[in-house]
Amino acid sequence: MMSRAFKIFGNWKMNHSVAELRAFLSVVEGARSQWAPELFLSGSLEIGILPQSPLIERASNEVRSLKLPITIGAQNAHGSLSGAFTGETSANVLKDLGAPFSLVAHSERRQYYGETDESAAKRAEGLLSQGVRVLYCIGETREERERGETNSVLERQLRVLSNTPERKTLISKAISDDRFLIAYEPVWAIGTGLTPSPEEAEEAHRKVKSSLKSSLGLHSADRLFVLYGGSATPENASGFLAMGSIDGLLVGGASLDASKFLKLIAAAQSLLPSA
Ligand code: PGA
Repeated sequence: MMSRAFKIFGNWKMNHSVAELRAFLSVVEGARSQWAPELFLSGSLEIGILPQSPLIERASNEVRSLKLPITIGAQNAHGSLSGAFTGETSANVLKDLGAPFSLVAHSERRQYYGETDESAAKRAEGLLSQGVRVLYCIGETREERERGETNSVLERQLRVLSNTPERKTLISKAISDDRFLIAYEPVWAIGTGLTPSPEEAEEAHRKVKSSLKSSLGLHSADRLFVLYGGSATPENASGFLAMGSIDGLLVGGASLDASKFLKLIAAAQSLLPSA
C-alpha cells in the first residue's frame, strides 16, 4: 500500500485583488511555524494557489521571496507556445513567470466558455508537451446524477484522455511524474454548500482511478492523484481526506480566506504521519 500524500489547491476564480493577495500571503506566512516542513520536503504535502492570471507573476515572486512552499498556477491556459488566441495565456509565459501549472476543464470553463471533452484533452496535451503540469477537472451535473449517469459521465470525460496513442503515452508518463492530476468535482457541489458524503465521493474516486488505470495502462506503482472539489471546507475536509482514494482537495470559496486555507492544511497535516 502506498503511503498517503495530499495536495490542497485553492482555485481563487475571479476573486482577490493585488492587495488581497498580499494580505492573504502575509497571514499564511505568519502561520508557517505550524507547518511540518518535512512533509513538504518529502512531497507528502503540496499546497497551491491559482489566482487570476494577471496576479500570477506577483504571487509567484512573493511566494519565492518569502520562501513559502506554495505552488502557483493558472486557472486556464492554452496549449500552444504563442499565436493568435486572443484572451488566452501561453504555456511559455506560465513557465517564464515560474508558474508552470494550470487547471484544465474546470466546470465553469465547460459551462461558460465552451470547453468540451475534446478541447480540454487537447489543451492538456498541449500544456503537458510544453512542460506545464495539469490539474484536470471532471464531474457530473445534478441532472446527470439524478438520472443515474454519474459513472457513464466520468467514463466519457476520461475516455478522451487516451483516444490517441500519443495522448495516452503523454498523459500516462505525466501521471508517473506527478505532472497530471485529476480533480473530481461534482458540478452540483461547486459553490452550493452541498457535497456528496465522503463515502459517495470515495466511490467516485475509485471509479475514476480504476477507469484511468485501465484506459491508460498505468503501472501499479504509479500514483494517480485524484482531488475532491465542491464546497470543501475546514469542517468537512478531514472526512474527505480520511477516505483512502481521496488524495487532496481543490477548494474554491474556502480558499479565499487565509485562516480557512490554513485550517485545510492543518487537516491534511494531521492525517499524515510526521517524519
Ligand atoms: P467551491 O469551488 O469550493 O467554492 O465549491 C470549487 C471549485 O470550483 O473548484
